[in-house]
Amino acid sequence: MKYAIIPAAGLATRFLPASKCVPKELFPVFDKPAIQYIVEESVDAGITAAVFVTGTGKEAILDHFDVIDPKFPLSKLENNVRTEVEKLSSMIKAVSVKQEAPLGLGHAVLVGAGPVKDESFAVMLPDMLVISKGKDSAMKKMTELHKETGKSVIALMKIPHEKKSSYGIVEGIKVNENTIEITKMMEKPTPCDTESNLAIVGRYIFTPEIIEILKSTKPGKGGEIQLTDAMVELMNREKVLGLIIDDDNLVFDTGNGEGFVLANVYTALQKSSSFSAKALAIMEKYDTLNRSKFDKRPWGWWRSLDFEEGSFQVKHIFVA
Ligand code: G1P
Repeated sequence: MKYAIIPAAGLATRFLPASKCVPKELFPVFDKPAIQYIVEESVDAGITAAVFVTGTGKEAILDHFDVIDPKFPLSKLENNVRTEVEKLSSMIKAVSVKQEAPLGLGHAVLVGAGPVKDESFAVMLPDMLVISKGKDSAMKKMTELHKETGKSVIALMKIPHEKKSSYGIVEGIKVNENTIEITKMMEKPTPCDTESNLAIVGRYIFTPEIIEILKSTKPGKGGEIQLTDAMVELMNREKVLGLIIDDDNLVFDTGNGEGFVLANVYTALQKSSSFSAKALAIMEKYDTLNRSKFDKRPWGWWRSLDFEEGSFQVKHIFVA
């Protein structure tokens, strides 16, 4: 499999003002941009070309995978930093196509499929950071399953029932411990629409049939051309498999602030030996600063607080 289509045209209004001039895909997760993790994941799975589907103001995404601007004094950099920077332009063949209007994920995939001929390809949503602790990444396992079966493969994860309305949800028949044949798909259902808690993670491998389907897919939920609607039609035409990603993988939804920070914290914990102690110290300090004034602090602490603040109410409780 040669191509990964990486839809990255979203404006990231949730991240304003940070996303005003800088594409959110280039926000750093600890020491490298979020999009680089996605590209590295694709390279690890044997993919050799990335098609970024972008919009106005997102040109820097492609630049990140180009040779470095000569203004940087490369010869003065530490060897390991220089190697990291120099590898970027050779890790993957990267191209970028523009999605002229925000018509949905299905539309983005269709736009990105331009260079893809009659061959299977991957779609990787950069908002979902999948970090594998095991030997093989989820994407690699998906590629292997696709090679074995020739079928489209969708990555799935188990989510709490109340989160269903944020994801595409599938139902299916068990093939083996981690694989199902998908029988039903719904885009962002309400929790009572389905018993299933298997959510689409944002990693897909498609047979080329999906491109034909997308060409005639009508706008669905939210007036957008939904990839999930095209997948429902794909399922009517051929078998679609779901691979449930196991506990060896951590999934961070970096499309929201909390998920983004958590991805940073996890990566920092992995890469810096002193981070954990420093983070704990901050949390302790935070806790001390924010604990209720009426908790079980030592007598002396209470007295000084009372005295400083001169608050009648606090004094009253103190005396009592
Ligand atoms: C998209 C897909 C959804 C999938 C999700 C994963 O939704 O439409 O099926 O579960 O990505 O993040 P979005 O988050 O773009 O609204």
